[in-house]
Amino acid sequence: MYKIAVAGTGYVGLVAGVCFAEVGHQVTCVDIDENKVNVMKSGVSPIYEADLEELMQKNYAAGRIDYTTDYTSAYKEADAIFIGVGTPEQPDGSANLSYIATVARQIAESVVKDCLVVVKSTVPVGTNDKVEQFIQDFLVHDVKVEVVSNPEFLAQGSAVHDTLHAERIIIGTESKWAEELMQNIYEPFHLPVVSVNRRSAEMIKYASNDFLALKISYMNDIANLCELVGADIQDVARGMSFDNRIGSKFLNAGIGYGGSCFPKDTKALEYLARQNGYELKTVKAAIDVNKDQKTMLYKKARKRLITFNGLKVAVLGLTFKPGTDDLREAASLENVPLLLEQGADIYAFDPVGAENFARVYPEGKNGKGSITYVANIEHALEGANVCFIFTEWGEVRALTPETYKKTMRTPLVYDGRNIYNVEEMQESGIEYHSIGRKPARREAIKEAKHVELQIPRS
Ligand code: UDX
Repeated sequence: MYKIAVAGTGYVGLVAGVCFAEVGHQVTCVDIDENKVNVMKSGVSPIYEADLEELMQKNYAAGRIDYTTDYTSAYKEADAIFIGVGTPEQPDGSANLSYIATVARQIAESVVKDCLVVVKSTVPVGTNDKVEQFIQDFLVHDVKVEVVSNPEFLAQGSAVHDTLHAERIIIGTESKWAEELMQNIYEPFHLPVVSVNRRSAEMIKYASNDFLALKISYMNDIANLCELVGADIQDVARGMSFDNRIGSKFLNAGIGYGGSCFPKDTKALEYLARQNGYELKTVKAAIDVNKDQKTMLYKKARKRLITFNGLKVAVLGLTFKPGTDDLREAASLENVPLLLEQGADIYAFDPVGAENFARVYPEGKNGKGSITYVANIEHALEGANVCFIFTEWGEVRALTPETYKKTMRTPLVYDGRNIYNVEEMQESGIEYHSIGRKPARREAIKEAKHVELQIPRS
């Protein structure tokens, strides 16, 4: 078992640290925030993530994990130092690498034995070569330090599970020594390991995330066309999914992708291409489609209602997906300001994201409109003129057509996550709009004007 230090206790760092402890390594997590360190020591997770708190408590009690602000002592004796600090997006789409640089300098000044510095943060291709040079320049002791690229693929809400049961571990190294040490560190996970060079590992992370973003944008694009030609995107996706080459995952059309990865990583790769004199047309298209998709339902509703002024609007779901309190790039953040600008009185429900949202849009009057946060989903719907669904939380899925019919003043529902059965909703007398699905009634389908069948001459 190895001595591991982890720099940064966000999603990436903390989850990695806890999982390394869980498989038996001796882990020290470093963060600059003293309060956060104390909170973690008391067994409380600073982020909302399934299973995380339980494993933090278990491994802390077993003495396999500790938290500190004292980076010198944590890095000094470590066999490997994992970096999981943020690389936030800058206005031009590039990644801000200042947190990585700060940690790299601290490592260079602290280490007293040969060790690996393993970058888990998503960084532009070529960054780790620079990080290694940077560390060499500031090294205080005469020791061997190699930088390794080891990107993670965890999704929020299932981060612990995704780490312990990852489909693959990507290890990007430049020497046999580093490759073997990394394989040994990951050995107790019993997972498939893909060993490549450092730049390929960095690229695998972007290429994978951007491929998934592309898949979603492609399905959203097709969904929008489905609406125009009377096809149903869910049936189309189901039909496509039987082809193993396409696969069945990430084919859900909706209100666009959000979160901390896809929006940032698509823009970063597009930027990297531009910097290298190349236009990455596919990724650019994914970004464009996603931008339009986020306000697709708002635009539809605006056309239908003309104005939202004085209307009670139920908003169900604020986070970028269920199972997290994260609002980054969530569709709600695009739509709520548009609704408020229009004078809507919003009643918002989200089982865990409301508190974070209220920091951006405090409860009460806001411009021409207002926002109220409710803990009971039916209170959001009561007397509402229109309802928008932005996140497919279990509580939202569990609602029946009758609840909408019974509680809303006018049952007009815009569903950005295609949760309900179109026929059932419409049969219950609800005006139901979703993404890329056929209208329930045959007569609502337009004539296929683009198709011409010529009668063959005999
Ligand atoms: C993603 C990747 O899945 C993960 O491998 C990577 O390391 C980080 O980015 P995450 O952002 O946590 O994880 O969530 P994910 O479940 O992938 O969803 C991202 C966004 O795409 C969400 O807004 C979700 O609603 C949307 N999405 C996902 C769709 O619109 N349709 C789909 O079919 C799947």
